[in-house]
Amino acid sequence: MTMDHTRLLKLLRDVEKSIGMELVSVMKVFDTFEWELEKHIFIEEKAIFTSYNPTNILEGYKMVPELIKQHNDILNRIRVMRKDLLWNKPVKYNEFKEFLVTHKTFEEESLYPKLDQELTIPQKEEIIKKIREIVS
Ligand SMILES: [Fe+2]
Ligand SMILES: [Fe+2]
Repeated sequence: MTMDHTRLLKLLRDVEKSIGMELVSVMKVFDTFEWELEKHIFIEEKAIFTSYNPTNILEGYKMVPELIKQHNDILNRIRVMRKDLLWNKPVKYNEFKEFLVTHKTFEEESLYPKLDQELTIPQKEEIIKKIREIVS
């Protein structure tokens, strides 16, 4: 999933680079980014977060709703971005990128190491199985 994060940031850079090109081309690049980002969020929420039973309940259960809140925020922002692009309005690109990077860092520093530590091998296999079902 960390590799996925790097790939998503690259796709966002592609969107930035395409700005100024013909609208059809920009939207094509944007569509790819949006599709991949929404898929990533779906996988995290449906295959990963649902399998997580934190040992430190207070800390763990606080983290998941916070991440889901951030996901919803990201999804809203991407909708606004699409509208701005279509209406040829300035896109709040840097603000969006900053938000995305903060979220990604939070997951990479807090969530994924914890999952790696706390999940059993069968639990990890179950998650991988679910992810394969989604991305295959
Ligand atoms: Fe996420
Ligand atoms: Fe993520």
